[in-house]
Amino acid sequence: MASENLSRARLSRRELLRRGALVGAALSPGISLLTAAQGNSPADSSIAEYELNVAAREARPDGRSRQIWCYNGQLPGPLIRATLGQKLRIKVVNHLPMATSVHWHGLHQPGTWHMDGVDKVSHEPIPPGQTFLYEFEATPAGTHWYHSHVGVQYGNGLIGPLVIDEPTPSARYDRDEILLINDWFLRPAEQILAGLLRPMRAGGRMRGMKMGSAASRTKGMAKGGTMKMGDKPDIADVPFESALFNGLGRFHGTQAPLANLRVRRGETLRLRLINGSSTYQFRMQIDGHPLTVIAADGAPLVPFTVDNLLFSPGERYDVLITADGGQDAWIRAATLAGDEARAILRYADATQSEPAASPVIWGKRSLALDALRSPTPPTLAGKPREVVLRLGGTMQPYAWNINDEAYPHSQPIAAAKDEWLRFVLDNPTGMDHPFHLHGHYFYVLGKPDGLNLVDPPRKDTVNVPAKSRLVLLWQANNPGHWFFHCHIEWHAATGMARVIEIAPTRP
Ligand code: C2O
Ligand code: CU
Repeated sequence: MASENLSRARLSRRELLRRGALVGAALSPGISLLTAAQGNSPADSSIAEYELNVAAREARPDGRSRQIWCYNGQLPGPLIRATLGQKLRIKVVNHLPMATSVHWHGLHQPGTWHMDGVDKVSHEPIPPGQTFLYEFEATPAGTHWYHSHVGVQYGNGLIGPLVIDEPTPSARYDRDEILLINDWFLRPAEQILAGLLRPMRAGGRMRGMKMGSAASRTKGMAKGGTMKMGDKPDIADVPFESALFNGLGRFHGTQAPLANLRVRRGETLRLRLINGSSTYQFRMQIDGHPLTVIAADGAPLVPFTVDNLLFSPGERYDVLITADGGQDAWIRAATLAGDEARAILRYADATQSEPAASPVIWGKRSLALDALRSPTPPTLAGKPREVVLRLGGTMQPYAWNINDEAYPHSQPIAAAKDEWLRFVLDNPTGMDHPFHLHGHYFYVLGKPDGLNLVDPPRKDTVNVPAKSRLVLLWQANNPGHWFFHCHIEWHAATGMARVIEIAPTRP
């Protein structure tokens, strides 16, 4: 599958010289000479260098042709990989006719918050024709990703995988592979957003907000004020079209090629699952191959085995699978409404035809948030400051908010350096909202009536289900200006976001 593509961004020393790509920096002996990033880490060098060229091109990732925006001509962008503690130096050249930026989702940027890539918050976006040099420490270890953080641009294809290798992985496996899934639409993301912002029409798509109910959602029925599109329940703002695995998918009725994950019989793989969607959660399953979950958003977990897992835009899970099935298997990803996208787990000695089309039968064991356990108990502070954040939305105009303030018309949340904060996310709306915190991990303590104070997992993105509350605990130990927002693009872009300002010194 895309693994050959994934390593192309790493520049050889010769290539760097040829392109004169080093801005104001002489080649130091520390520069990585590796050209094959996959499964290998340049442990002996202190800097990993990459170049990303941002440009538009025609492509048909799901069988339908449209203009996509992407990194180095690829969807997803090339794998960026470094070893924990290395310095990452990434030159981004903007060939688009509009400004762009790159956010390194999952990296903490200690001391370098202005490299975090959020439009207006971290730095001014890169103007058309200009270059920006991102430089920051490769930390924390784990599976992360990168994407544009200007408007809703990443929905057009500006996404890619980012892996930071731990010096010694905690689990044993033969090799690793990336599966990045993202929902995909024919219309440019900016047009989709404009459609949502248009005043409501008959059959409009103002759904799941004040009037939506969790009951209608979980029953898979649209009622109580939510409006139906076709015969699918309304669980998202934008009707499902298709989803891509590592850039390949199949829109209904096309014969577009599917992604193939090739395995040798008997080997154990570490699969790095990334949900790079703008809208949809996906339930993932590899038929006949249980998933042993070992990390969430990069942070290690006490391993446990499930048949499938549901994950939201921005979330990552590392899972081990053993290739001991009898035959090729479907890799499935389905929305809560049952729309399904597929890739193929391919045994080296099997035929080249696709597995027989069969309806999904979900295994019994699903991943539940309260089953996640951190192997290293946190040292929780005595008295965190509690901040209640109530999520909301209005239908006219289409706008989402936190405590009735829609970003950018909102007050930043101020925190003292090293202060412990307890965020109570209160979601009375009829939709789920996957929240992402920049620059930090938080502990997911869970629902208010069942807090895990013993071994809560660390994450940087967590779904707050409709009609529920979720409690997070974190230490503001990384001074800077950090974005905190729903990772559904249409929600963040219309106000469901805040800036958190952490003071540079202790009070
Ligand atoms: Cu994945 Cu604020 O971003
Ligand atoms: Cu949201």
